[in-house]
Amino acid sequence: MLMQNVDLKNKIILITGAAGFVGSNLVMELLKTVNPVHIIGLDNMNDYYDVSIKNYRLNEIDNLAKECHESTWTFIKGNIADKELIFKIFKENSPAVVVNLAAQAGVRYSITNPDVYVESNLIGFYNILEACRNFPVEHLVYASSSSVYGSNKKIPYSTDDKVDNPVSLYAATKKSNELLAHAYSKLYNIPSTGLRFFTVYGPAGRPDMAYFGFTNKLIKGEKIQIFNFGNCKRDFTYVDDIVEGVKRVMQHAPEKVTGEDGLPIPPYKVYNIGNNSPENLLDFVDILQQELVRAGVLPEDYDFEAHKELVPMQAGDVPITFADTSSLEADFGFKPSTSLRDGIRNFAEWYKEFYMA
Ligand SMILES: NC(=O)c1ccc[n+]([C@@H]2O[C@H](COP(=O)([O-])OP(=O)(O)OC[C@H]3O[C@@H](n4cnc5c(N)ncnc54)[C@H](O)[C@@H]3O)[C@@H](O)[C@H]2O)c1
Repeated sequence: MLMQNVDLKNKIILITGAAGFVGSNLVMELLKTVNPVHIIGLDNMNDYYDVSIKNYRLNEIDNLAKECHESTWTFIKGNIADKELIFKIFKENSPAVVVNLAAQAGVRYSITNPDVYVESNLIGFYNILEACRNFPVEHLVYASSSSVYGSNKKIPYSTDDKVDNPVSLYAATKKSNELLAHAYSKLYNIPSTGLRFFTVYGPAGRPDMAYFGFTNKLIKGEKIQIFNFGNCKRDFTYVDDIVEGVKRVMQHAPEKVTGEDGLPIPPYKVYNIGNNSPENLLDFVDILQQELVRAGVLPEDYDFEAHKELVPMQAGDVPITFADTSSLEADFGFKPSTSLRDGIRNFAEWYKEFYMA
């Protein structure tokens, strides 16, 4: 196990994408467990999906922050692609730790809307790196994605695998983030850790993802499309596990070491955070059905068979994702463990409360 070398206590932490699914959960976890802590959340509140969910998450954070008397929570609405704004935030606050979660997510959307991926994921991330260069940080942690593995044949996916064959622009931007971070770590000795998240799900999650989109459709009586005729496996990872992983990683920055050439060996690391246990799409749909009925989101006599359609593979999709989490376990003593059943149950209960109470 690695020793912690970044103490989050009393530090200023900048979290971009703070109104997002992972970001909001991370802010809440830090407020609950680090005392005192000073968090600045940045998010442009874009309408890629229902903004009321982002507002709901911010509201949850505000309520929690009111109870954390010694900590501070500041929200800034803004775009990471706005270099002037980013520099202003860094100059005025000198964050010790930066967690960059702001990005345009979604594989399929990147096929029809490439511009926003270049703006948020490339220009935006470059601005964060430049800011870290000009206003040094103890640790930059950023979200990469399991999509960098493309259609890797070898499973489980290891961070030692070659990932030069992205199959979507989204994946290409995430891989680019890792490359840019490597160069900046080498050139400017910026300790950085990239995290390849695997299909994150949970309460107040993203409506563009299958479990949420399927639920919306089933409620409306529409058919759900199950890609690759159901022959897909996904390493579904519960949001609390992702957040626990991010929090642990934040507390250990890759060491700054000088190489034989007198130049820094890049303080650079990349980890997978995934469940290490892929589930078949049809089994996942079964569990979702059962839990939606259990939570009272759908009636017991709902005719699921009539609302399922098995369709071919979509462009940009991959048949399986499967995380090798051995280095996360070795370095941080942690691996995700929430079962799909438990996680989907929490989602279904939240959905009922949020939309139907
Ligand atoms: N959820 C997953 O399954 C998953 C898997 C792999 C990687 N990731 C990555 O993890 C990170 C968090 O994902 P998430 O699921 O919470 O997504 P999310 O869309 O819920 O959160 C991202 C947030 O960033 C904000 N944002 C987008 N572009 C911005 C910009 N230019 N400036 C400021 N804010 C901006 C959005 O408004 C959103 O609230 C993203 O980088 C995503 O690519 C997520």
